[in-house]
Amino acid sequence: MSTHADTVRSILAAGNVLLGPMAGITEAPFRAICKRMGAGLTYTEMVSTKGLHYNPDSRITQALLTLSPLETPCAIQVFGNEPTMMAGQAAALADKHGQDVALIDINMGCPVTKVTSKGEGSALMRTPELAAEIVSTMVGACPVPITVKFRAGWNPSEVNAVEFARTMEAAGAAAIAVHGRTRAQFYRGKADWDIIARVNDAVSIPVIGSGDVFSAGDAVAMFERTGVDAVMIARGAQGNPWIFQQARALLDTGEEIDPPTTAMRIAMAREHAAALIEFGGERAFVRMRKHIAWYMSGMPGATHLRLRANKVNNYTELDELLKEYDEYQESRIIRQRGEADSASDI
Ligand SMILES: Cc1cc2nc3c(=O)[nH]c(=O)nc-3n(C[C@H](O)[C@H](O)[C@H](O)COP(=O)(O)O)c2cc1C
Repeated sequence: MSTHADTVRSILAAGNVLLGPMAGITEAPFRAICKRMGAGLTYTEMVSTKGLHYNPDSRITQALLTLSPLETPCAIQVFGNEPTMMAGQAAALADKHGQDVALIDINMGCPVTKVTSKGEGSALMRTPELAAEIVSTMVGACPVPITVKFRAGWNPSEVNAVEFARTMEAAGAAAIAVHGRTRAQFYRGKADWDIIARVNDAVSIPVIGSGDVFSAGDAVAMFERTGVDAVMIARGAQGNPWIFQQARALLDTGEEIDPPTTAMRIAMAREHAAALIEFGGERAFVRMRKHIAWYMSGMPGATHLRLRANKVNNYTELDELLKEYDEYQESRIIRQRGEADSASDI
């Protein structure tokens, strides 16, 4: 087994509940929050190696590759389908980010047609020889561990995750992450944890399980059902970075931590927004709208305020929205107390 596999094994042993990459969502400020809440390893959003090659100074690409000092060392995820170009870019990233990059992960799971139609992302599961050449060329060129994230397969009649995992291991991958859905499913239906277990049994390198971990209990259940080295949480962290704290507590001591209060959610939304503006200016704020709606989705009432979150343009507007929500909550509590008092008078 490669020593890089041992390196990844020890990274995962130090923190085995990871934040999964989510394009358009897991920007550096959010990753830093998740890390603080207990995420073991964070991943950048996927970065195009062709974009890096042909347009290295693009503002968008550079933002994707900005790592927070609060999350490093972290994982950088790339996608592409051209082995030499990918290897060259991986070597350059390792050189540029030095100790801040724990591993470089290759996206072989993205289901989006814009990506798969070019033979990238999950389409590589249908061209395993090319996928293996990408991995071995990157491993040969790059001093940091190279890992691969893929799916159960392309569609129900092409579920090849087990063979594909063996091929990736033989090509030199230091670890693999498996999302237990086919490309045809996109994010629908249920993730198949049995295929993750079968992949885990088939290889000696570390395996990370991904799909449908939405609570601390789910994290424990995935470990028990699949035997993986680490679990990855993606959608379950949206508006809920506390999930890492809760999973850690349940795994480490069996303690069940209460869900965050409304006040905690509001404070986190403000912190996240402020960090996002510091990171990318007010321009970055459009990204915050989704996050605000998610932070508020756990809160009682105020559906109309949640809808307004979609139109918030800057920190001042967010501040006003949250103040309004605070007032709404206070009046709700006062009303409830009043009702309880008059009931006890009867
Ligand atoms: C909006 C969105 C964007 C995603 N972007 C990426 C990505 O850039 N790279 C990747 O490997 N996986 C990506 N994923 C997949 C997740 O990392 C994860 O494997 C999948 O959502 C299943 O896990 P979950 O049930 O915890 O969400 C994305 C998922 C979502 C919902």
